[in-house]
Amino acid sequence: MQKISGLIEKLAAGNSLSLSEYESLIENRNDEAAKILRGLAVETRQKIYGREVYVRGLIEISNICKNDCFYCGIRHSNKNCDRYRLTPEEILECSSEGYELGFRTFVLQGGEDNFFNDEVLGSIVSKIKSQHPDCAVTLSLGERSFKSYAYLKSCGADRYLLRHETASKEHYKKLHPAEMSWDNRIKCLQDLRSLGYQVGCGFMVGSPFQSNKTLAEDLKFIEEFKPEMCGIGPFIPHKDTPFKNFSAGTLELTCYLLSVIRLIHPPVLLPATTALGTINPMGRELGILAGANVVMPNLSPLSVRKKYELYDNKICTGEESAQCKNCLANRMKKIGYEIVTSRGDFKNF
Ligand code: SAM
Ligand code: FES
Repeated sequence: MQKISGLIEKLAAGNSLSLSEYESLIENRNDEAAKILRGLAVETRQKIYGREVYVRGLIEISNICKNDCFYCGIRHSNKNCDRYRLTPEEILECSSEGYELGFRTFVLQGGEDNFFNDEVLGSIVSKIKSQHPDCAVTLSLGERSFKSYAYLKSCGADRYLLRHETASKEHYKKLHPAEMSWDNRIKCLQDLRSLGYQVGCGFMVGSPFQSNKTLAEDLKFIEEFKPEMCGIGPFIPHKDTPFKNFSAGTLELTCYLLSVIRLIHPPVLLPATTALGTINPMGRELGILAGANVVMPNLSPLSVRKKYELYDNKICTGEESAQCKNCLANRMKKIGYEIVTSRGDFKNF
């Protein structure tokens, strides 16, 4: 305990540890350490964001994907996936419905679907921004060229979420087919940053072949890249993927890492993810109590919800957008937090 409490003190004081210290912080963790980290993470977040939890309306625009990530339920090779693509009109309707419900940030997420070329996507982004100028538009549509990211930015996109998935090149190769490249993923993150997007990286907790060493590399990456947003959630197997027999990541480790990340980069926007709510009915609440400060209710049309199945038993597939928002508002209220629907920008303090 002596050693781990020293590491926690050092992290809280300087927002940084060495790679081997991060590894040791994970390796030697116990309930007592988790409790101390949680307390420090909540205190740190409180100073910047108070008890406010930001909401982002998630619109899952397409489950068509040209990639074949071994972990993902919408991978190209999954022949059992019932494919859909929302029309631009449907996407605009979702954002208008969201606007009426009070949302001021929309996240357009989907597989890498060639239908959404720059022209189509750019026009959707411009229309959302002109219809709702007080809203932020976040894209989460995978790897694109510098030119494409630049064009979308010029159409009004504000933020981009692209999980790095793992900071270890060796580990990346075990999660993806040979055509996919870690170098390109990192280049995309750098391109996005250089174009002035607010950028989100992140990774799955408990992904196959992950180790405390690769996790330490993820933490170092976050420390150095300083993303405005960071999405971490447990890996959950999907029955029609090569990783169907691997076990899911745990609530315990995910919450522990949420606290650590809050201390590494205090102002980071950190969601308590749907995946966390899927592995445990109180997962999102416990994520917030560990240091997260964002939730992302689903705004996708009910008819497609079940089809955007990245992993088995995903929650919120039968609820209307309004129900999801109210459900999360109540859940947050019960633990003493309040959801706010403002744009919820990163606070550079
Ligand atoms: N295509 C875009 C991309 O690659 O960034 C966005 C969509 S992708 C499905 C969104 C995220 O879902 C991925 O970055 C990955 O971390 C997560 N994900 C995929 N399969 C998962 C699984 N089985 N369990 C948990 N998270 C998963
Ligand atoms: Fe979707 Fe609770 S957040 S039903």
